[in-house]
Amino acid sequence: MSVRMAPQRCITFFSCGIVLILFCISCYTFSYHEHVRNYKSGFSKACTWYMKTVKDFMFQDSDVFDSLALISTKTFDVVSHGAKGDGKKDDTTKTFDVDSYGAKGDGKKDDTKAFKKAWKEACSSKTAAVFHVAKNKKYLVAPIRFEGPCKASITMQISGTILASEQESKYKKDEKHWLRVDKVDDLVIEGGGVIDGNGDSWWKNSCKVDKSLPCKDAPTALTLYKCTSLTVNNLKIQNAQKMHISFDRCENVQVSDIQITAPEDSPNTDGIHVTHTQNITISDSVIGTGDDCISIVSGSQGVLATGITCGPGHGISIGSLGSKNSEAYVSDVTIDGANLTGTTNGVRIKTWQGGTGNASNIMFRNIILNNVSNPIIIDQNYCDQEKACKEQDNAVEIINVTYQNITGTSADKEAVIFDCSKSHPCRGIILKQINITQVGGDDAKAICKNVELTPIKTVIPQCPENVDQDQLAFGTYSSY
Ligand SMILES: *[C@@H]1O[C@H](CO)[C@@H](O)[C@H](O)[C@H]1NC(C)=O
Ligand SMILES: *[C@@H]1O[C@H](CO)[C@@H](O)[C@H](O)[C@H]1NC(C)=O
Ligand SMILES: *[C@@H]1O[C@H](CO)[C@@H](O)[C@H](O)[C@H]1NC(C)=O
Ligand SMILES: *[C@@H]1O[C@H](CO)[C@@H](O)[C@H](O)[C@H]1NC(C)=O
Ligand SMILES: *[C@@H]1O[C@H](CO)[C@@H](O)[C@H](O)[C@H]1NC(C)=O
Ligand SMILES: *[C@@H]1O[C@H](CO)[C@@H](O)[C@H](O)[C@H]1NC(C)=O
Ligand SMILES: *[C@@H]1O[C@H](CO)[C@@H](O)[C@H](O)[C@H]1NC(C)=O
Repeated sequence: MSVRMAPQRCITFFSCGIVLILFCISCYTFSYHEHVRNYKSGFSKACTWYMKTVKDFMFQDSDVFDSLALISTKTFDVVSHGAKGDGKKDDTTKTFDVDSYGAKGDGKKDDTKAFKKAWKEACSSKTAAVFHVAKNKKYLVAPIRFEGPCKASITMQISGTILASEQESKYKKDEKHWLRVDKVDDLVIEGGGVIDGNGDSWWKNSCKVDKSLPCKDAPTALTLYKCTSLTVNNLKIQNAQKMHISFDRCENVQVSDIQITAPEDSPNTDGIHVTHTQNITISDSVIGTGDDCISIVSGSQGVLATGITCGPGHGISIGSLGSKNSEAYVSDVTIDGANLTGTTNGVRIKTWQGGTGNASNIMFRNIILNNVSNPIIIDQNYCDQEKACKEQDNAVEIINVTYQNITGTSADKEAVIFDCSKSHPCRGIILKQINITQVGGDDAKAICKNVELTPIKTVIPQCPENVDQDQLAFGTYSSY
């Protein structure tokens, strides 16, 4: 730390600071009940300015102050959340209840029009708005687009059930989405209610279930498209037609306390899908569906998932990437704290042959496995189509992936599978504190092809040594 001030100047500066802090505290006490939002910005602006100035004057090049500033920013965050909760009771917050716009909530009448009207008014409110869906009622809704930008911050308070219309004709205009939120910033979705995709008829007509049918798209239950500063908290999402919730081109997203359920045999019903999204945290959520619990695909950066319970389903996936020779990038993904039970994969990275780009800086740690197939897998020969994929030299590169503290049981003998590309081997793969045994207690084994590996400390099972890696037989594990 380099203190470059004369002592007198230093004392003067700190005195000013104390005065400012006292001012801030009184300002806080005074305005907490009345002008919560104003207080927040005023207080944090003044103090951020002070911190910055002190830093500039006194602690040049020191990172001590950066961490102090970080702590103070965190404190502000907590306060601001409190303020938000409190702000709702504020006179300036207006509630737009779908019932007031003619919704019946009897599970039979189509309430789409009422939802549209309520949204339109909520979104044009000049002060903070709450779009409200009442508890203990069931609203039948056809595809709907909640369009932004809105004039002020907005909360979707979903306390009842929103049930998807089964009428296929209503999905003609947009086959890919049921509930779609477009370009809304500062949005909170919460309320403890249920979003029910009513997906049964879609699943039955899927080509993955009935091979005689042509393959066609099905809608994602809830899509958040181009939303920034988004919070999704305390919701249940079930029986989606296809994916349950998709974050598409969003920035700064907090997801917590989400429960997602669909039958194990429902096709393509990913739990949480992240695409082209930056800075998203998913925490304390329970997901069990017929496809990936979490899937993270191209354009995503800064993804943290923690406290995830997963199963049944296909596990936690990065990919698939690079299909149809596309270019794909995923980076800075951390899965920290997950409990997987009976899934067909554990933590997986899957790429198609022929793609370009890279998946890098990925960490999987603190993961518990219970009877999981393919617990640790990198599959650079992913091929999810009827006819075989042809061999190609291009590949989405996989660089810097750490697996740490992953323990439990594998449903198969092969617990660790690195099936990497011959022309673009997986680089910087680190394994530490891995202990996976077969579910019956037998030893598991590792299959390692074209991987540049650094095993540190306890790793069970280990890649076989002194084997011509290319000669290892492949295709023994099932691909989903
Ligand atoms: C995401 O977070 C990183 C690191 O905190 C930050 O540098 C970056 O600007 C953020 N991206 C967006 C789009 O906010
Ligand atoms: C993991 O999840 C399974 C299934 O929900 C549960 O039975 C088990 O107790 C959990 N394990 C831990 C360590 O939380
Ligand atoms: C991934 O590709 C991009 C674009 O070519 C490049 O800038 C980046 O450095 C690559 N990442 C790594 C880890 O090599
Ligand atoms: C590897 O990835 C981790 C995140 O998982 C990151 O902290 C680290 O800086 C990366 N290493 C390199 C050399 O980029
Ligand atoms: C390993 O991960 C488990 C599950 O998240 C956690 O309970 C345990 O404390 C971790 N162990 C270490 C040494 O970090
Ligand atoms: C493990 O999972 C398989 C299905 O993959 C199931 O048949 C078997 O009963 C499970 N075993 C245990 C001990 O849970
Ligand atoms: C690995 O796990 C097995 C089964 O839980 C246990 O018996 C064994 O002691 C563990 N090995 C190490 C080195 O921790």
